[in-house]
Amino acid sequence: MSDASSFLARNRNAIVVASLAAAAATGAYLYYRETQATSTGSTADSETSAAKAEKKTVSTEPKDAIYPVTSEGLPDINEETIANLSDKEKEEWALALKEDGNNEFKAKKYTEAIAFYTAALLLKKDPIFYSNRSACYSALNDHVNVIKDTTEAIKLKPDYTKCVLRRATSYECIENYADAMFDLTALTIYGGFSNKSIEQVLERVLKKQSMKIVDSKPKELRLPSAATIGSFFGAFLKETEPEGISEESTGADAFLYQALKNINSNTPQAYEDADTLINQAVEAYNVEELSKDSEEAAKASIALEYLAAFQFLKNDPASAASHLEKAIALKPRPRSYIFRALINADKSSYTESLSDFAKAEEMDPNCPDIFYHLGQLFYLTGDLSKAQANFEKAKELNPDNVFAYIQLACITYKNGSIEAANEKFTEAKLKFATSPEVPNYYGEILADKGDIQGACKQFDIAARLQESLPNFSVGALPLINKASIISRESFERIDEAGELLNKACELDPKSELARITLAQIKLQKDEVEDAIVLFEESSDLARSYEEKVQATSFAEATKVQKRIKQDPILTAKISELMAQNGVLQ
Ligand SMILES: *[C@@H]1O[C@H](CO)[C@@H](O)[C@H](O)[C@H]1NC(C)=O
Ligand SMILES: *[C@@H]1O[C@H](CO)[C@@H](O)[C@H](O)[C@H]1NC(C)=O
Ligand SMILES: *[C@@H]1O[C@H](CO)[C@@H](O)[C@H](O)[C@H]1NC(C)=O
Ligand SMILES: *[C@@H]1O[C@H](CO)[C@@H](O)[C@H](O)[C@H]1NC(C)=O
Ligand SMILES: *[C@@H]1O[C@H](CO)[C@@H](O)[C@H](O)[C@H]1NC(C)=O
Repeated sequence: MSDASSFLARNRNAIVVASLAAAAATGAYLYYRETQATSTGSTADSETSAAKAEKKTVSTEPKDAIYPVTSEGLPDINEETIANLSDKEKEEWALALKEDGNNEFKAKKYTEAIAFYTAALLLKKDPIFYSNRSACYSALNDHVNVIKDTTEAIKLKPDYTKCVLRRATSYECIENYADAMFDLTALTIYGGFSNKSIEQVLERVLKKQSMKIVDSKPKELRLPSAATIGSFFGAFLKETEPEGISEESTGADAFLYQALKNINSNTPQAYEDADTLINQAVEAYNVEELSKDSEEAAKASIALEYLAAFQFLKNDPASAASHLEKAIALKPRPRSYIFRALINADKSSYTESLSDFAKAEEMDPNCPDIFYHLGQLFYLTGDLSKAQANFEKAKELNPDNVFAYIQLACITYKNGSIEAANEKFTEAKLKFATSPEVPNYYGEILADKGDIQGACKQFDIAARLQESLPNFSVGALPLINKASIISRESFERIDEAGELLNKACELDPKSELARITLAQIKLQKDEVEDAIVLFEESSDLARSYEEKVQATSFAEATKVQKRIKQDPILTAKISELMAQNGVLQ
């Protein structure tokens, strides 16, 4: 794939950071962090002084109870028994019951301890008693009752962090991740956003929740946006008509002819059609019956290769690999091995990948595609000098591959020579005057350097060039790129960014990046509902599991944020924290 620069990866990182902020409550989090370079790490827990005092007065055995007990020594108390007690007596009984409950708890007699706390609660609705009883239920793994008791305690004392944490843990155990996240977020707020360990738990639960959602959806294999497909095929020599196939061909050959024609015309609809046609071709060739190395086999093998390529693009590498094996068995071409090398590289099997490239090179030492993709492999694994050598060879063998020029310019930039990189981009611009790729990636380099104005200019050029092309090349990328940098540059340009992204979504409805970026803008504008929908759509559009989980986690984090905002107590706490740190709202 065209990772012509690491911009996308970087952009994704930016998104991750933003999601952490979302997960940790509200946008306020970021501002807060910035003003609080050194956090004080105040303890999140706030036990009452009564609770602290209680620790000192632990008795050992339940002896001479001041309240009635059963023959088993358990409290014998009901509404009637207590009806005539004075307030003072009630207080004393309750305290005694709680202490005896604590002793039972220490002796790990949880069911008994529950009886004492239950009796204490009849006398007094004290959040500590609920908390104590919830500890027993927790020890018994009775999460439903833990949640009931902690909920009562929290109603009486909203910032009872010990209970909030205990409830969160139980919610997590019963896989109610949404409520667990709400509680964990509340904890980060009560902890003044300084509790790293809670944040880690929050991230873990968010991931579980997102995976659960993604796992529950039916798996659909879809083609990515035309821009992605275009840059995939664009990095190969243009496929010419295979031997023995022409416009007049019929049957399987006709399907293959039409499929290749559609691939070469490079529009979203053409790719969808090509996908169908290539499946029809493979079926019509009846590959199981063909004899190796025949002319039919050669054509069928090409059909199988493309079928594999489409499957790879749909993120179904297993099917892709199996069809490539068939293609290779029938009649391999260098491209068959290159496709397999890409599948291997994608799953980090670099040794296998390199050996596939070697096989391709044995077949045709002058096939430029080998060197371009080898360059990619080295680029992605960080071996820049080998990447450079291979891209140079690819460029020499196929001077029409714009991506080789772009990659070389990017390597030069990574190497630290900005001047030389500029020169290389200028060279590419002269050679590929109508290519939107060159200004788009040049813009990314400029953005990386911090030259916002220069970058915007390049993105504008790229967008204009794309507009005047009949086919897809960068698609919506320049619009997305521009929107990203201007929205980060200043809040004033947020509406402009939003407009660009609306256009991007229209231009490339399959671009998950356009949606996820627009969702970020919506979040900044506090249009939370819209953001959630866009994140969810973006998850549906994404093809890889990881991307789906990530987009879903943004949606889920945003939902928590929305709930927090609707909670008056937590909202007040956030305002208080911000006021303490002199942050304007
Ligand atoms: C973070 O929160 C956990 C759970 O409430 C608590 O045990 C821990 O002491 C807190 N750490 C800090 C630094 O506040
Ligand atoms: C409580 O007091 C009422 C009247 O004052 C009396 O009738 C009743 O028996 C008492 N109940 C108990 C359990 O002592
Ligand atoms: C009961 O609550 C008190 C105060 O929070 C605490 O010190 C004690 O450890 C608790 N006991 C149990 C069993 O949770
Ligand atoms: C990167 O730097 C090395 C060492 O200075 C040099 O040999 C190489 O040619 C440079 N690569 C590019 C693409 O400029
Ligand atoms: C898109 O169309 C232009 C102009 O027709 C052509 O030069 C270019 O090669 C096409 N690009 C792709 C990737 O098909």
